[in-house]
Amino acid sequence: MSALADEIRERIRRDGPINVATYMELCLHHPRHGYYCRGRPIGADGDFVTAPEISQMFGELIGLWCAAVWQSMGQPQRVQLVELGPGRGTLLADALRAVRIVPDFRAAIDLHLVESSESLRAEQATLLANAHPTWHEQFETVPPGPVLVIANEFFDALPIRQFERVGSAWQERVVALAPTSQTLRFAAADSVPAEAGFGCAPSGAIVERAPAREAVASALAGRIAAEGGAALITDYGHTQPGFGDTLQALKRHRRHDALDEPGTADLTAHVDFSALVSAARREGARVFGPVPQGRFLKTLGIDARAARLRQDASADRFAEVDAALRRLTGAHGMGELFKALALAHPALDTPPGFEAKEPAAA
Ligand SMILES: C[S@@+](CC[C@H](N)C(=O)[O-])C[C@H]1O[C@@H](n2cnc3c(N)ncnc32)[C@H](O)[C@@H]1O
Repeated sequence: MSALADEIRERIRRDGPINVATYMELCLHHPRHGYYCRGRPIGADGDFVTAPEISQMFGELIGLWCAAVWQSMGQPQRVQLVELGPGRGTLLADALRAVRIVPDFRAAIDLHLVESSESLRAEQATLLANAHPTWHEQFETVPPGPVLVIANEFFDALPIRQFERVGSAWQERVVALAPTSQTLRFAAADSVPAEAGFGCAPSGAIVERAPAREAVASALAGRIAAEGGAALITDYGHTQPGFGDTLQALKRHRRHDALDEPGTADLTAHVDFSALVSAARREGARVFGPVPQGRFLKTLGIDARAARLRQDASADRFAEVDAALRRLTGAHGMGELFKALALAHPALDTPPGFEAKEPAAA
C-alpha cells in the first residue's frame, strides 16, 4: 500500500469522498508522494514514452513550425517561446538545434518553461542550460509580449471530473472507501442539476469534463488574441465529446488500476479537443485543426527528414528511424489517436501542417 493511499483514506474518513479531479491532482502533484515528485517517469526506463522521446524528428519539426509562424508574425525582435510540461526537455533541445538554420528566430527567443515537477526541472536545466530558460508554475506569469507556446502531452495530465448516469439522473463519480475492506473504490455522489446539460444516455454511461484544461486553453487564447502569437497543442484524444471512461494509469509501460497504489503510476485521460476549441474561440483566438498527428507531421515533411536520417545510416539506425516514423505517424501508432491543434492570433495565416487537405484525384 502506498503512503499516499493511507493519506487519501484518512482524508476520505475525515471529510468524505473526493471527486476524480481531486484524486488525480493528489496522485500527480501531492508535495511528498505525488507521481511527478518521483524520479524518472518518462523514457524506456520510466513508465511511458512520448513522441519527442521516440525520435528527434518530432522536436525538430515543431521547432521549424515555430520558426515559420514567427516569420508569419512579422519576425518580432523578441518572442516568448513557452513549453507547457516540457518533460525531460528533449523536444526543446531538438527544436532549438533545428532552428539554428533560422538564426534571427533563434536570437529572438526568450525561453520559458511551465513545469510543476522539481525532478523534471532539474533534467530540463541540464539539457537546456545554453538556452537560459526561466521556469514558471503557471502560464500566466510568462512576461508580456508575443508568444509561441508548445504543449505535447500536457493537457492529458490535467485533472478531469467524471459524471455517471444512474437511472434518470447524472451523479458525480467520486473516490470513496469500500465499507468493510476500506480500500479505495469508485462511487456515485449526489445528483447534479439537469442544467449541467449532459444529455440522455443509458444508465452507467460516463461523461468527462475538464475545467482545468479549459482554463489553460482560455489563458493561452486570451494572451495570443491580445498580444500576438500562436500555440501548438499535440495530445491524445477525440475531436468530438462523447460518453466513456478514459481515465488510465500507466506503470512501467503497462496499464495499471487507477486506484491501486496511488502516486506510483502516471494518470491521464483523453483530451476532448472540442472543449479546447470552444474555450479558445470564446477568447478571440483563431483555431486550426485538430488534425491527426500523422497527417500533421507528414505535411511538415517528416518523410523527407526520415529519408535524410536514413542516408548513410547503419542497419540498426536505419531500422530505428523507420520504426520511429511508423510509430509517430501510423494509424496503429500515434498517427490517428494523437492530434494537433493550433490557436493563433486572428491576423495570422494558416500555420504549417493545418492546410486544407488536397482533394483526392479524380
Ligand atoms: C506526460 S509529461 C509530457 C512531457 C513532455 N511534454 C514530452 O512530450 O515528453 C507531462 C508534463 O507536464 C508536467 N505537468 C503536469 N501537470 C502539470 C501542471 N499542472 N503544471 C505544470 N506542469 C505540469 C509534467 O511534470 C511533465 O513535464
